[in-house]
Amino acid sequence: MKEQLLQKFAEVFGGTDGAKVYFAPGRVNLIGEHTDYNGGHVFPCALTIGTYGVARKREDKVLRFYSMNFDQLGVIESDLDDLKPAKEAGWTNYPKGVIWAFGLKGMDVTNGMDLLLFGNIPNGSGLSSSASVEVLTGFILRDIYGFEVSNQELALIGQYSENNFNGVNCGIMDQFAIAMGKKDNAIFLDTATMEYEYAPIVLEGAKVVISCSNKKRGLGDSKYNERRSECETALAELQKVVDIKTLGDLSEEAFEANKDAIKDPVRVKRARHAVYENQRTMKAVAALKANDIEEFGKLMNASHVSLRDDYEVTGIELDTLVEEAWKVDGVIGSRMTGAGFGGCTVSLVKDEAVETFKEQVGKVYLDKIGYAADFYVVEIGDGPVIL
Ligand code: GLA
Repeated sequence: MKEQLLQKFAEVFGGTDGAKVYFAPGRVNLIGEHTDYNGGHVFPCALTIGTYGVARKREDKVLRFYSMNFDQLGVIESDLDDLKPAKEAGWTNYPKGVIWAFGLKGMDVTNGMDLLLFGNIPNGSGLSSSASVEVLTGFILRDIYGFEVSNQELALIGQYSENNFNGVNCGIMDQFAIAMGKKDNAIFLDTATMEYEYAPIVLEGAKVVISCSNKKRGLGDSKYNERRSECETALAELQKVVDIKTLGDLSEEAFEANKDAIKDPVRVKRARHAVYENQRTMKAVAALKANDIEEFGKLMNASHVSLRDDYEVTGIELDTLVEEAWKVDGVIGSRMTGAGFGGCTVSLVKDEAVETFKEQVGKVYLDKIGYAADFYVVEIGDGPVIL
């Protein structure tokens, strides 16, 4: 892989003197969805698939970007002194946003750069290809300039750039999972305090299977921002009757006792999801620690139902993948993962059932939706590295 990347770099940018190869993972969230901007808990892990980058500092102020996933776009150029998001700049808005955010945090990027990327995360799949590019860019800048910035700060800068340069109001989960990834562990993160702990994922005789719906997200980002503001309004209504900072502060009982303060039935559903999903995530991690994987699976299933019925971010594609998965013997749990509205599901599947799972779910999906889903047996990997 490294040789191929360097060869392509030489072809596109001329020579490899001073060029280094880097990698940042993608992520999958096991449970705790749409809780990270509601002061709740999440439980994601980094994957061994992700984004490779070859980078080299330039003498001038020109940024030259090339993605092997979009060969047809060729080299895309920008000027360091003119960092603005532009529609026609496509994916390069992510690295540009991170360079811009470094400047705002007092870490001046003084020179241009040649940057070649290759991602083996399926595009637009909800496995955080954009957060992977953001963390990768920050990791590269730290290496090139020797900036004193921790991985956790790289995550926050990535999120800041996505919010303020790219206009997506995402929470911290994706960038955190990627920057802080640890092989064979998921990260139990409290987004209200940023306290976290690693929890080993030892699946004896089972695999993590990702089913990709191949439905592009499209309107996803605007719907995402809409869910956020529905939750913010519900929180403000609840705060009139109960002393809380976030929806994550509420137990199920406290929510039931105070929910009448929310003046709209749709917002009640949104807030109910945020509250119950947060509690479910804590219960799921406790179950995992007690080695009760069956219980963990049941909580994953309940998470999907809540995302389908209360949060309404699934859609026929994700529902078909999950509901068909539930019918397969040997499936411990299955749910949508990420923002929703397309993208992927995550399932825990016993080893002997993986082939049947792919066949059975794949067939029904193709019949019902009209195009195929893709299946990936994934492994949990580390955060960013220099190769
Ligand atoms: C996207 C966002 C995350 C998180 C999830 C939903 O992946 O980037 O911050 O909100 O959706 O859990």
